Amino acid sequence: MTTRPAAMTVPAVRARKVRPAEAGGAPPLVMVTAYDAPTARIADEAGVDLILVGDSVAMVVLGYDDTLHVSVDDMAHHTAAVARTRPRALVLADLPWLSYHVSAEDTVRNAGRLVQAGAQAVKLEGGRKRVAMIAALVDAEIPVMGHIGLTPQSVLATGGYKVQGRDAAAAAGLVDDAIALATAGCFAIVLEGVPAPVARMITEAVDVPTIGIGAGPSCDGQVLVFHDAVGLEDRVLPRFVRRYANLKAEGVAAIAAYAADVRAGRFPSDAESYQLADEAVAALGLLGGASKSA
Ligand code: KIV
Repeated sequence: MTTRPAAMTVPAVRARKVRPAEAGGAPPLVMVTAYDAPTARIADEAGVDLILVGDSVAMVVLGYDDTLHVSVDDMAHHTAAVARTRPRALVLADLPWLSYHVSAEDTVRNAGRLVQAGAQAVKLEGGRKRVAMIAALVDAEIPVMGHIGLTPQSVLATGGYKVQGRDAAAAAGLVDDAIALATAGCFAIVLEGVPAPVARMITEAVDVPTIGIGAGPSCDGQVLVFHDAVGLEDRVLPRFVRRYANLKAEGVAAIAAYAADVRAGRFPSDAESYQLADEAVAALGLLGGASKSA
């Protein structure tokens, strides 16, 4: 009998600070997004540490052009599907746009909905200006992960998905943001779309793990969007994505083969069909029908 490793918890993630290396040499954290039961099961069976029910669901699953179109209801729906699989990995859900740009009371209520749907922690985007909401969430015992750098919910304000922190002032601003988030109580921070040397500076400046996406190798962990990693999403290939499979192409080939079989009368076969018992064939006066029910 194989023993299942212990379930991940927020304190276990918090303790996985890799840098500086002398802190204990823990292996980097592995996070991937998932949005439903099958993707959650694949991620968990693969042994990831954290499953993020990302608001990227808007783009990679629901067909929107940005992440601004998902609601707390949408996120709760997808979080519940992931949580029902009872993964060993920690389940984390994104607070969608406008769900924490409101009063502290409404922010806590919105995050609470995601926790009641099965999230063990929430993630929100933004730096120093989010400190009050993070404090309110931590006060309500809801663990929070920060997310700075390229923050997709800011796409209208920034005018596109652009790498952040490219000049000295912007890089220093990101370091200050990260310190503010860690001080406010975030247990980890996603760094998205920042130059690798800036991610390293940030990682060395905070005592909570950083988890990078497009932030180079010096972070305490890495995250990828599920559909990018397995090649289900093949419309764009950002520099930071490594594609580990080509499931979209395999899926197209599989469905094309199915269509060809149906059109040529090759599917379904007798073995893939239910049959009647001989007596029923005789009683119905069917000639030449295969007998014996499957
Ligand atoms: O929604 C998402 O997929 C994310 C990751 C890019 C970190 O926030």
